[in-house]
Amino acid sequence: MSFVKILITGGAGNIGASLARKFVENKNYFVVIVDNLLTGDTEKLPDSQHNNWKFIKADVNNYKDIAPIFGKYHFDFVFHYAAVVGVKRTLDNPLMVFDDIDGISNILSLAKNTDVKRIFYSSSSEVYGEPVEFPQHEITTPLNSKLPYAIVKILQRVW
Ligand SMILES: NC(=O)c1ccc[n+]([C@@H]2O[C@H](COP(=O)([O-])OP(=O)(O)OC[C@H]3O[C@@H](n4cnc5c(N)ncnc54)[C@H](O)[C@@H]3O)[C@@H](O)[C@H]2O)c1
Repeated sequence: MSFVKILITGGAGNIGASLARKFVENKNYFVVIVDNLLTGDTEKLPDSQHNNWKFIKADVNNYKDIAPIFGKYHFDFVFHYAAVVGVKRTLDNPLMVFDDIDGISNILSLAKNTDVKRIFYSSSSEVYGEPVEFPQHEITTPLNSKLPYAIVKILQRVW
């Protein structure tokens, strides 16, 4: 039987793990969950009663960590949720936040080179900064945030 192979980065975090737990209910899916456990927790991973998933502790920002995973599995779909999050953490560690640019760069180039069908990622409303109009509008509101977290999300959007 051939599985639909799915990669979830940041898959031990709140959103990624929630998606992983849902996906493993489908026996046609095989889900690879990658997380460096910065803020994630293996307690959130899917139940061990399902055998169609695997957890790999790895850093998506490190090409040597993530490239072999793409090479081994040849994913159909990638959900990229790995990111440094949290207001205090991102303000205290701006350089660590900027390292996430390497993460999206790794994901995009490896996905392209291994024929991934589609990539999904999570941006943030933080990209808009202080509102200049209300309600904010996806097309017309300028991307004027100066926060490192938001700047990385803007880069992901325009890549
Ligand atoms: N929760 C929200 O309200 C919200 C809003 C907007 C955007 N987002 C985005 O959604 C995504 C998931 O957020 P969340 O709320 O689930 O946060 P979370 O902290 O629960 O999940 C993020 C996960 O990424 C992992 N991680 C961080 N850096 C990594 C790296 N270099 N390599 C591998 N794993 C790494 C963390 O350990 C964690 O498990 C993030 O990209 C975040 O920016 C979340």
